[in-house]
Amino acid sequence: PFSDARSADLLHWYDRHARTMPWRISPADRKDGVKPDPYRVWMSEVMLQQTTVAAVKAYFLRFTERWPTVSALAGARDEDVMAEWAGLGYYARARNLLKCARVVHQEHGGVFPENHDALLALPGIGPYTAAAISSIAFDLPETVLDGNVERVMARLFDHHAPLPAAKSALKDYAASLTPQERPGDYAQAVMDLGATICTPKSPACVLCPWRDPCQARRNGTAAELPKKTPK
Ligand code: ADE
Repeated sequence: PFSDARSADLLHWYDRHARTMPWRISPADRKDGVKPDPYRVWMSEVMLQQTTVAAVKAYFLRFTERWPTVSALAGARDEDVMAEWAGLGYYARARNLLKCARVVHQEHGGVFPENHDALLALPGIGPYTAAAISSIAFDLPETVLDGNVERVMARLFDHHAPLPAAKSALKDYAASLTPQERPGDYAQAVMDLGATICTPKSPACVLCPWRDPCQARRNGTAAELPKKTPK
């Protein structure tokens, strides 16, 4: 796949418009190369699966205040963690969270492994979360694919094949754009772009840093992408 879209243009936009979130590094610290704590990245990404950013913020702050490290969480009582999770839903996530914390504590000395495959082997960590931690916490150039990224790629490449079958093609597109420089900022920039500009309905194309290379914008098809196979 080929696109004229440059990751540098998106990173430049992110430097000015990144959303503030409690698990992110401030723009000034980011310039100094400060990386977020993998424990906080992991916690936020698990919570953000199936839950909105707005709902997650307060839970994230309470969890990390009460259990500031993965080893602290590993030592928590099951019922305390389940009670703190109450209201977030999908409770298997909370059980896996605790299971994963205990494996990281007992088998990895309380340190998250710094590679994608070792992360993937941990309880409750699938391809999305492994790629998110690898890129955001460790700056490894892994390709993060969530619903926002799929929508941005479908539009950028004007790809009309329907989801879910189109997933692997969209992942290839996303991989072709993932930079070696600042992959963690880049991954979060695509997610922010999808959440704030390249929205499902009425995308704000005039504000988009990728408006020129976007093939769906040129063809007038952005609002109808991505296509989905009816259930
Ligand atoms: N959704 C899931 N993870 C996210 C992140 N790190 N930034 C923005 N949106 C997200």
